[in-house]
Amino acid sequence: MNPTFSASVAPAFQPRFDIGADRIDCGREPHVDTHQGADERASWPLLDYSNCEPTEDQAAINRWLRSAALDGLDVLHVGTGNSSVARLLDGRARVVSVTVARGEFEHAQSLGLRDYRVHLLNKHSRDFADRFAAAGFDCVLDNNLASFACCQRHLERYFDALARLLKPGGFVLTHWLGMQWTLDVGVDDVETVWRLDAAKLEAIAAAFGFQVEREGELFFLRRPART
Ligand SMILES: C[S@@+](CC[C@H](N)C(=O)[O-])C[C@H]1O[C@@H](n2cnc3c(N)ncnc32)[C@H](O)[C@@H]1O
Repeated sequence: MNPTFSASVAPAFQPRFDIGADRIDCGREPHVDTHQGADERASWPLLDYSNCEPTEDQAAINRWLRSAALDGLDVLHVGTGNSSVARLLDGRARVVSVTVARGEFEHAQSLGLRDYRVHLLNKHSRDFADRFAAAGFDCVLDNNLASFACCQRHLERYFDALARLLKPGGFVLTHWLGMQWTLDVGVDDVETVWRLDAAKLEAIAAAFGFQVEREGELFFLRRPART
């Protein structure tokens, strides 16, 4: 064995779960412009929702947020849109949001909300995994958990980051509609396996130590209080 060679080769990726994905490793580091080609192909707003009303699934999450006990807590909102979450929780919780859409990033910054920070980041990227302190969030909101997954390796990196970013007892909240939607415009389409049902979500969640609870169309992935 050549020790120099073996030391420089990254260990092969070992998937933590199997729900039938073909594309295990796309081999490209995800970045902010990864979905640019798809965005240009779509004839409707795909990524930049700064001037759009929240999607139906985001709106359902927001209805839940109105009476949720989140006062004084730290919330990570993945998929900024028109910053509806930050505006709704203004004065109640600290909100951090991430987006790949420059329009959403600029719109969020223009709002001047005191406890709101937005980051232009791809959630599947190494940058996202490294950006925030461990156990920094009580709650993560992402209505499109797997909708933009380029491959299993990078989706797993995202879930690994979520498990690390949540405080013990914290949770990820997602919605049935967004679980079932994947990027499908003819450019850089997402494998249909990432259209999640309850069983697939359960398999992914279990691989990262989350327990799934369903309340109607809302799905909570809870990090146990003691791990
Ligand atoms: C259809 S818009 C929805 C916006 C908002 N969540 C809503 O539902 O109204 C999709 C959002 O997901 C974000 N997004 C898509 N892929 C992403 C990725 N890989 N990393 C981070 N954000 C992503 C886009 O920037 C945009 O904010």
